[in-house]
Amino acid sequence: MVSAVKNIVLIGFMGTGKTSAGKILASRIGFSFIDTDVKIESERQMMIREIFAKYGEAYFRRVETEAIKRVARARRAVISTGGGAVLNPENMEALARGGAIVSLKASVDAILERTAQKDNRPLLAQADRARAVVDLLAERAELYEKADLVIDTTRLTPMQVADEIARWMRRDVGLHA
Ligand code: S3P
Repeated sequence: MVSAVKNIVLIGFMGTGKTSAGKILASRIGFSFIDTDVKIESERQMMIREIFAKYGEAYFRRVETEAIKRVARARRAVISTGGGAVLNPENMEALARGGAIVSLKASVDAILERTAQKDNRPLLAQADRARAVVDLLAERAELYEKADLVIDTTRLTPMQVADEIARWMRRDVGLHA
């Protein structure tokens, strides 16, 4: 049983469904929805890809940590994080303080399909996107396992993912959804 939970935090690789499932979950349980990438983009008035292109990844990671530390203080929020949030242990410590961590994962094929349309993911803007996904997943796989709940979304719709999280919350978290 996870006790005294105030937020639900979604972690996982790009294209695992954090934003789409998170929005549905938030409206279903009456929580607010916060997407850390959207927050960064609106605060900086720049797209994520522009931040990467102009200032580089290390700068983005610092901005991301600042944003995460602020949103981690929210109450009754579903917080969707960028896929690289797990890289900095400080991020995860802040988010886990009172937040239940739900990790979403998916097959490489599903990730490639779901990320094919949008061009706002600089780490996947490569000639060999499949290789980029496989390599990044290998680097991060262990970090994505550090969660209170892990869901494979490969064959699930965002609605089904939200249902599964809501069910888990009723059963194990003591939050009533
Ligand atoms: C990143 C994931 C992106 C975004 C940035 C870096 C990553 O977020 O934060 O492009 O390092 O995996 P999504 O997971 O929401 O696409």
